[in-house]
Amino acid sequence: MTTFPTSDAATPIVVVEADPSVRSRLAMQLGERAVPLESLDGVEERYTQPFLLVLGPSCALVPGVTGAEGMLARRPDIGAILIAEDLSTEVFQRAMRSGVRDVLGAPVDTGQLNEAVRRVGQSLQSMAPIGGVATIAPSATTDADPATPGRVITVFSTKGGAGKSVLAANLGVLLAQRAEGPVALVDADLQFGDIAVMLKLAPQHTIVDAVGSFERLDQGFLESLLATHQASGLKVLPAPLEPAFADQIGAEQMNRIIQLLRSFCSFVVVDTPAYFNDVVLGLIEESDDVLLVAGMDIPNIKNVKIGLQTLRLLNTPMNKIHLILNRANSKVKLEVGEVERTLQVKADALIPSDVVVPQSVNKGTPVVLDAPRSSIAKSLEQLADRFAPQKAETKKKGWR
Ligand SMILES: Nc1ncnc2c1ncn2[C@@H]1O[C@H](COP(=O)(O)OP(=O)(O)OP(=O)(O)O)[C@@H](O)[C@H]1O
Ligand SMILES: [Mg+2]
Repeated sequence: MTTFPTSDAATPIVVVEADPSVRSRLAMQLGERAVPLESLDGVEERYTQPFLLVLGPSCALVPGVTGAEGMLARRPDIGAILIAEDLSTEVFQRAMRSGVRDVLGAPVDTGQLNEAVRRVGQSLQSMAPIGGVATIAPSATTDADPATPGRVITVFSTKGGAGKSVLAANLGVLLAQRAEGPVALVDADLQFGDIAVMLKLAPQHTIVDAVGSFERLDQGFLESLLATHQASGLKVLPAPLEPAFADQIGAEQMNRIIQLLRSFCSFVVVDTPAYFNDVVLGLIEESDDVLLVAGMDIPNIKNVKIGLQTLRLLNTPMNKIHLILNRANSKVKLEVGEVERTLQVKADALIPSDVVVPQSVNKGTPVVLDAPRSSIAKSLEQLADRFAPQKAETKKKGWR
């Protein structure tokens, strides 16, 4: 792949905005490297070296795209950032198709703008994931070694229905089959958790019981609250049976539960709701890995992009975030490469769309057990391989 010099203090920043006051404000925010221009005319000819292009809100109004699409298609060494009055799906879609690498809402905060410039500048070097989003490294051991806490994997998405619960349940089942020690699955979608339904469990206890006796919560007591998924041995801590109980569980309680679970489990997989709250932020902090699930449509990508921005603002180490593209084979006129370019993150796993998924969900049997030969089951196994290679089988390589 062609690489370009890293953006450094020498990389010019061209600011294009028709409104003079907005233009000078943007230029001021960006400092002395910024060259304010009224339009894109002549920019491509004038700047033959890699440069950063900040498109002001007036560019988002141009019919068609930003007006820069032709230039951005010809010149991958231009790192474009669009500032839009409204971050609507339509604007986002147009920006994405025109090759813009980041979209920020107006009025833009100076810190946020400079951070975007820094990130996009870095990405000019290559298509390497921003912030060094790492590939998943398998656990050194899958034994439940009391000296080594188990690995916590949180499945999250900023979009409802992206496939979090399907992914969490199947990954939990596969890891339970592979790990030497116990594997727990926690349903932290406290209002509408459906892990118990997906695994056809009729739980005697839920997370509410753990929190209800928080003072005497220890390993033995917590273990007694877990429901066992017989087919795999997976230990499940279900969500409250009623949404009203969700309020009883705070971030502190949730993290205490996770810490206790990881003290005797090889893996703790956590399913979450589709929004940030204290509990989710606490979980993300406590986790070794966050699987960020995105579906293959523009609203999904838009929300996941905002989710990624939020995680960056919260200083979440990007090397624990792994992008999982669900329904990645769907013929929806959205290419994986296009999505990766927009999110500036390489996908760690591509999960195909398959009708066997809703069929298995309706049966209450995870698809990896219900249709183990299906392409989706294979891709989920490959994902599990990344954490714990299959027993007695050579590790699969090059699955992505
Ligand atoms: N790869 C796939 N192929 C086909 N159907 C899928 C796939 N992934 C998920 N689905 C279907 O999409 C629906 C939503 O999936 P799931 O419940 O896992 O999403 P979620 O992100 O947990 O949603 P929520 O935010 O509501 O909790 C499920 O009914 C499931 O059958
Ligand atoms: Mg769910």
